[in-house]
Amino acid sequence: MNEVMKHWLCLILLAVASLAPAGCSRSSEEPPLQGASIGGPFALTDQNGRTVRDSDLAGRYRLIYFGYASCPDVCPTDLQVIGQALTQFEKAAPERARTVQPIFISVDPERDTPAVLKDYVGAFHPRLIGLTGPVEQVRAVAKKYGIYFVKQDSEGASSYLVDHSRQTMLFGPGGEPIALVPSDEGAKAVVETLDKWVK
Ligand code: NI
Repeated sequence: MNEVMKHWLCLILLAVASLAPAGCSRSSEEPPLQGASIGGPFALTDQNGRTVRDSDLAGRYRLIYFGYASCPDVCPTDLQVIGQALTQFEKAAPERARTVQPIFISVDPERDTPAVLKDYVGAFHPRLIGLTGPVEQVRAVAKKYGIYFVKQDSEGASSYLVDHSRQTMLFGPGGEPIALVPSDEGAKAVVETLDKWVK
């Protein structure tokens, strides 16, 4: 290819690239949670005992759910939906799906040790990270992410329920809030949300 041809080819590619965002983007809408004051830095311990910081996830979308391993029904149902949806998205769009990091943050860190979380998260998706930490630290993170939780009164010290917000959230590669994810509506709805916002 001579220099002139190379030059023209570059110009054409540039023109195509600059049109692409307007013409071919997956969604030209603004993300529903754009600018929302939720999210932010955290440093918690994963199911392998390693510290995970939000900055370790730079460049990855974060699919975040707060709950606890002994939750009798809602958490396992939602996590199952999230796991199934991500598996389906991985089959449909492997490259985009690989950029999505599913994260489960415990609202019951007293019982949810890394060992407990290791058994738990593996049941839902092979890449699901389970995070825990000192109660005060977890509480501060939950607050930043708009999640409420409170231990219910109980007879025994080790058998109690935890009331908590039921919310699945999608954050972008820079940690910016994007959208709530309808995990209560089934895997198909979750796949649609991921397909819409994960570029
Ligand atoms: Ni729950």
